[in-house]
Amino acid sequence: MEQKLKQYWQGKTVLITGASSGLGWALAEALAPFGVHLGLMSRREERLRELADRLKDSGSRFWIRACDVRDREAVTAAVQDFAEAAGRLDVVWANSGVGYESSMRHWEWEEVEAMLDTNLKGAIYTIKAALDIMVPQRSGTVIGIGSAASMRGLPLHGIYSVTKIGLAYFMESMAVELPYIQFTTIHPGYVDTPINQDNPNRFWLLQPPEAAQKMIRAVAKKKHVYIYPWQMMLLYRLVHALPAGLYVMLMRKMGRLALRGAGKKKK
Ligand SMILES: NC(=O)c1ccc[n+]([C@@H]2O[C@H](COP(=O)([O-])OP(=O)(O)OC[C@H]3O[C@@H](n4cnc5c(N)ncnc54)[C@H](OP(=O)(O)O)[C@@H]3O)[C@@H](O)[C@H]2O)c1
Repeated sequence: MEQKLKQYWQGKTVLITGASSGLGWALAEALAPFGVHLGLMSRREERLRELADRLKDSGSRFWIRACDVRDREAVTAAVQDFAEAAGRLDVVWANSGVGYESSMRHWEWEEVEAMLDTNLKGAIYTIKAALDIMVPQRSGTVIGIGSAASMRGLPLHGIYSVTKIGLAYFMESMAVELPYIQFTTIHPGYVDTPINQDNPNRFWLLQPPEAAQKMIRAVAKKKHVYIYPWQMMLLYRLVHALPAGLYVMLMRKMGRLALRGAGKKKK
């Protein structure tokens, strides 16, 4: 695999959104040894500079843009500028994301809209801008970062689940339409990053460098969908296949404590 990995990644121009933290940061670290041209995007420019500086001796080249993926014009311009600076666009990782609870015990419109605008619309803006370059090139790889939370409508996290399954369906639809573009949707399980650090129930938890290695390998294998770790993949497939009535009944039982908590808080 190492040779295949090198063959796939070496010399590629790769744009990553959400590179200032967590998975995006770890992906940049994992890809830098392959001598790539990395475009790093997120809102926090100082973090992107820190990352590029840290990797400056890796043999890769870096391009940085502070950009809010909720701003369609800014995203479109950034993707075009990177492709121009790098000469072409081989790979885009639509990775930026936020996650909050959305339940009757905790519903903040600002958070709900941030999830829809960042995880779903922001990813679509990024991918559409990339496809505007990749389609005329007749080549390219689009990677959408979904989540294991897209396995079903998760209790207390319905909006987050929606954004991730929405992105997965969009990716699948485009994959049917554009056979000469590689579309890989990745559904990570729990990875130890700031997005979930308040969650006490993270199981099968991975560290970002291990997660990044898994993801760059899955992309090099040209997988359509990749769910990791393997335990989460099995759970995802099983839960996804359950009839709706059975799923709701099981989740009500499992989530009884959380839902009771919700009732108390609401009173
Ligand atoms: N960690 C997990 O267990 C896990 C599991 C499943 C899926 N995921 C998904 O993995 C992706 C990366 O998350 P992470 O775990 O690495 O979390 P993280 O460490 O919190 O990183 C989130 C990244 O998204 C960027 N971002 C957020 N809002 C943005 C905006 N409006 N415009 C541009 N960039 C924005 C952040 O950068 P700035 O704040 O600098 O803008 C940051 O770089 C997300 O899509 C998340 O849903 C994570």
